[in-house]
Amino acid sequence: MRTCRGIASLRRALAACAGKQVGLVPTMGFLHEGHLSLVRACRRECDVTVVSIFVNPAQFGPSEDLRRYPRDERRDSALLRQEQVDVLFVPGENEMYPSPYRTWVDVTGLDSKLCGRSRPGHFRGVATVVLKLLHLMRPQRAYFGQKDAQQALLIRQLVRDLNLPVTLRILPIVRDSDGLALSSRNVLLSARERRAALALPRCLRRASGLVEAGETNARALRAAMAAEIAREPLLTIDYIAIVRLDDLEDAAEIAAGNTLVAAAVRVGRTRLIDNFIPGGMSC
Ligand code: PAJ
Repeated sequence: MRTCRGIASLRRALAACAGKQVGLVPTMGFLHEGHLSLVRACRRECDVTVVSIFVNPAQFGPSEDLRRYPRDERRDSALLRQEQVDVLFVPGENEMYPSPYRTWVDVTGLDSKLCGRSRPGHFRGVATVVLKLLHLMRPQRAYFGQKDAQQALLIRQLVRDLNLPVTLRILPIVRDSDGLALSSRNVLLSARERRAALALPRCLRRASGLVEAGETNARALRAAMAAEIAREPLLTIDYIAIVRLDDLEDAAEIAAGNTLVAAAVRVGRTRLIDNFIPGGMSC
């Protein structure tokens, strides 16, 4: 595995891969099995696997957890070497945002809903860094997780709008054995918060069970989900949303393959998200 810390060395590493199918897995590090599922898919489907690790300051708000965000480059690097990743890109902040930095990408409409409501500017930071990474690496395929469904939908829109020559692969949520979706932020939870957080996947399982039993009414589903969260006093609801996949506008009814059921909660200082898509998502 070749580790590149600068854009010049990344370009040299990629020049050696000319004519090969390149796949990109963008991450913020502190890797877990969710990230590694993307890496493994990339390895299976592409000749060259490039992983980036960059805790992107532009997607953190001033009161958010940029400083608390967990980091362990040495462990990440060992994991990626085991997975036989070809190129690891770990840019410094000045490399990605040379000063003065003035160019930003807004995926209008999709960026202000759901997570965008409580994290203004977050998706501008995500869209900008992902466009920069796609532009730097020119991969044929790029891998994202459904765990961050709004992010995946926003990037899908960005790729369409800017005619980017990349195929997106959106892969399923990987969970811990108790059902909690894997997230780098889970290590920030105390043991008590970790137990309380299980109400989040529970509320999604409840909704999914109701949908399987034939319930399609969004209001009834949201009420059942809210009731499940309300039983856990340590959790506060940020949002419970049942929205159309294409524009993230509220859906009155579930339409298989075109509805996202998503929730975000706070546990102490940590914010957690989870979702499911009845009938699955096609990209
Ligand atoms: P990060 O949170 O590190 O996630 C990197 C990728 O791993 C994202 O596509 C995310 O959806 C996916 N992922 C995270 N947890 C997962 C899980 N439990 N199962 C499956 N996939 C999972 O998302 C980001 O970084 C950043 O916003 C980034 C896209 C790198 C831009 O900075």
